[in-house]
Amino acid sequence: MSLDDRIASRRKFLQFLAASPLLAGSDLAAMAAENPSLLPDPMLWSPRTLDRLIKSPKEAISIFDFEPVMARNVPPAHFGYMASGIDDETTLRANREGFQKFVLRPRRLVDVSKVDTSVELFGIKYSSPVGICPTGGHKGYHPEGETAVATAAKLGNHLMLLSTQATTSVEDVVKARGAPIWFQLYATNKFEVATHHVKRAERAGCVAVAVTVDRSGGRNQETLFRLRPNDTRNCSQCHDRSTISTNNARKPAYDGLDVSGLQNIQSSMMSWDYIQRLRDQTKMKIVLKGIITWEDAELARKNGIDAIIVSNHGGRSEDGGPSTIESLPEIIAAAGGMPVLIDSGFRRGSDIVKALCMGATAVCVGRPYLWGLGAFGQPGVERVLELLRTETRSMMQQMGAPAVKHLVPAMVRRA
Ligand code: GLV
Repeated sequence: MSLDDRIASRRKFLQFLAASPLLAGSDLAAMAAENPSLLPDPMLWSPRTLDRLIKSPKEAISIFDFEPVMARNVPPAHFGYMASGIDDETTLRANREGFQKFVLRPRRLVDVSKVDTSVELFGIKYSSPVGICPTGGHKGYHPEGETAVATAAKLGNHLMLLSTQATTSVEDVVKARGAPIWFQLYATNKFEVATHHVKRAERAGCVAVAVTVDRSGGRNQETLFRLRPNDTRNCSQCHDRSTISTNNARKPAYDGLDVSGLQNIQSSMMSWDYIQRLRDQTKMKIVLKGIITWEDAELARKNGIDAIIVSNHGGRSEDGGPSTIESLPEIIAAAGGMPVLIDSGFRRGSDIVKALCMGATAVCVGRPYLWGLGAFGQPGVERVLELLRTETRSMMQQMGAPAVKHLVPAMVRRA
């Protein structure tokens, strides 16, 4: 898509938001009209026109069809939380733009009448290379929350990572997924809190803990902060931000936990020693989520880490960094063969296939399944995952790859 097309597509989306009777007078429409640079950029890349909303998941032609439906259904503060990047949202945009910096080199005349899209991680087979990123507070988007997401993940046999900030307990989510999941850890600066989370996750049947290592400072979630004050509901009924205990009161991971002395869930004190201490607390695999440089990938290897997730937190940690797809090659080179997963900005089968060609073991998505959840609940999540599976499978056939192992670095090059 040329720059002009993208600008035209963007303008069309803005006009749609501002003019839509569904969103008329809403904060989102007003914000779209006043401050287009803060809109979630993925729409920029959507080739379709946005003149009508889908009424059921099966009408969706691509995952992008779900976002405006979610925007209509979900309160502006919750939508803003999901959509927000940081500051100027350059990293949020870079994640999408990064895919245009690489082109595919498909091979022809290979029998791809049968395609095996499965991947294996820590001895467990998943039917698709597409995994569920940990994202917080699913009940803020739909009353069925994480249970709907886990059930959809079960139906498609996808890897699922559950956030510490989930609104459903890890025990209930493992039950709904019907198989082991990975637990994402916000370790905080209090070691006992991290230990508690990890031991509980292990007891619940998680096989890995994905320690988030990219949230050590504060952040300016400008899109969220601009939308939130205009939410007409009484937010304090659910969100009491006076202390970390009250703010997390509705998050089951904190049940029975002493969080006194903690200002927030970030880990500004976390260092490699901390990770080693955590290793002594659990038999689960240890995964680091948020690595974007070869230097840290090398340290992860030297520290005996079991897997890396190349992530910039969907553009929600620091602003001003590169897309994760651009960071991936240097991580693969330094990781010494350990599994490398990647997330942040993946929306299309071709995005997923590019990462798999470069050597990623699996690709996780976050916002897309939240669009499906906010739009239609579990059937929405199911359809988002189905679309991603279908696109990935078709792309593998087009690439001449009957299995994921046939997607190799020679099949992708810099544009
Ligand atoms: C949580 O992980 C967030 O980015 O808000």
